Amino acid sequence: MINKMQMIFKFLIIISIFATNSLFANEPKLNLTPQEKEYLKNTTITYAGDPNWLPFEAFDKQGKYIGIISEHIEIIEKKLDLKFKKIITKNWSDTLELSKKTEADIISGDAADVTLAKNYKPIDIYMQNPLVIITRDNYSFVSDLNHLKDKKIAYGNGGGYSTDIVKKYPNIEFIITDTIYTGLLGVKSGKYDVFIGTLAMTDYSIVQMGIENIKIAGDTGITMNLTLFVNKNKPQLYTILNKTMKSISDIQKHNIISKWRYNKIEKVIIDYTLVWQILGISFIIVFIVLIAYQKQKKLHKKIKVLNDNLENKIKEEVEKNKQQQLLMLHQSRLAQMGEMINMIAHQWRQPLNVLSMINQTIILQYNRKKLDDEKVKYFKENTKKQIQNMSKTIDDFRNFFKPEKEKIEFYINDVISDTLELVKPILTKASIEIIFKNKQQFKIIGFPNELGQAILNIINNAKDALVENKIENKQIKIKLVEDENITLTISDNAKGIPENIIDKVFDPYFSTKENKNGTGLGLYMTKIIIEEHTNSKISVSNNKNGANFIITLNKLKIVK
Ligand SMILES: Nc1ncnc2c1ncn2[C@@H]1O[C@H](COP(=O)(O)OP(=O)(O)O)[C@@H](O)[C@H]1O
Ligand SMILES: [Mg+2]
Repeated sequence: MINKMQMIFKFLIIISIFATNSLFANEPKLNLTPQEKEYLKNTTITYAGDPNWLPFEAFDKQGKYIGIISEHIEIIEKKLDLKFKKIITKNWSDTLELSKKTEADIISGDAADVTLAKNYKPIDIYMQNPLVIITRDNYSFVSDLNHLKDKKIAYGNGGGYSTDIVKKYPNIEFIITDTIYTGLLGVKSGKYDVFIGTLAMTDYSIVQMGIENIKIAGDTGITMNLTLFVNKNKPQLYTILNKTMKSISDIQKHNIISKWRYNKIEKVIIDYTLVWQILGISFIIVFIVLIAYQKQKKLHKKIKVLNDNLENKIKEEVEKNKQQQLLMLHQSRLAQMGEMINMIAHQWRQPLNVLSMINQTIILQYNRKKLDDEKVKYFKENTKKQIQNMSKTIDDFRNFFKPEKEKIEFYINDVISDTLELVKPILTKASIEIIFKNKQQFKIIGFPNELGQAILNIINNAKDALVENKIENKQIKIKLVEDENITLTISDNAKGIPENIIDKVFDPYFSTKENKNGTGLGLYMTKIIIEEHTNSKISVSNNKNGANFIITLNKLKIVK
């Protein structure tokens, strides 16, 4: 029932827009007098309107005059065969200011406008626009605005009809909104209960903004009448304009309105600048965030890869280092084994000689038929002794180079003596005198074999230097002194280590014996044995005759 009433009501309103003339009248003729035609020649007519009052009128971004009024003006211009010079103002207030100085010949406006009426005369109303009541959907048909007087009722500023509204509804306290849009949105959100605006304008705005859930709920009985104000001092222009406007048929007017209500909607220029700006900024922000995120992700990835690589590299390096040490240990062991075989060979020379002699004597005695039981027994015992001797040498070396797993208590003196015992034949052969006087016993805890190997390395180097330098009275002195710690000094008289290499002798693979199968690992391994395995110190210096190797053994572990 209510819907039906609303439809009938809407229809009536649309019909009423054209109430000034009959809808079906023929297009009236325009008859201009010769004087009027003459007047239009060589004259410039200036024109101003509201720059932002769609669907009635507006200047778009390109400065083109558009809207319902604009299309009326266009028809007039065509009929008069001239173009009005449009003055584009910033806003309606500017247009009113302009009117005060009569800077425009014609200004479009609401017939009720008192400001314009001062210097201008309105032509006959050419279009009427009813002021309608807009509510939310849940309101029923409003027959009289007074019924809603306790509600929040608003209308838009600058519509030109405020005087009429206040006059008609003196008991209602109206709220004035900045624009029609804020008014309509206010109704939708519940900020206002009612908004009053022209049918054309509200209808247009509702469609333009796509506002849902609000509707035209009634009529105020007030109409906004469109007219053109003409400079009071230009009566001829006034009559020409009035005549020409009247010559526009109702069908033409209807078409214009229809166009602006429906078809032209997509052509209407809304100021999209802000929308574009917001969209642009949002896009930039999203873009920046995306880039930042991507960069962060990449960085994370990079850091992770770097971390992984670093971890792997460290692992690799540690592993390499381990392998390297193992290799060096192996190489140094090989070198030591070579030396050991050399030493064994020297140790065996004596018993081998004895065995050879016994062998020859036996054969000789046998040939001479002098081999009796007693002799055989003597040979047997002597041979056995030599063979036991040789076997012991091997055991000694094997024990000497046997890897030790646990620390044990031992006398340093014993280790020195054992080492010297092994190396003695070689030293004797090279005419090297060994001086080891200190017979005081020092007991420490550690790896005796390793310590022996370290001492052996130092003695072997001394021997090499002594032989190489062809020293006359070759000597190796071993001294054991007790002070804060136990100091073991091994010195020779082989002229010392050249000063330019003395800092490098403990470096792995440093050797001056390239031609004589030096490995450069002897002193490196010695340093590791002394400093890492025995928790002691080793250093080298030169005295006036030769090199001095000083091993400082930690006394904490010493048992006397
Ligand atoms: N007593 C010493 N007198 C002179 N030079 C020495 C002495 N001991 C070591 N050196 C020097 O130190 C170097 C490194 O010794 P080492 O690490 O045992 O390697 P290698 O004996 O295989 O050359 C020797 O090549 C030698 O030049
Ligand atoms: Mg060596």
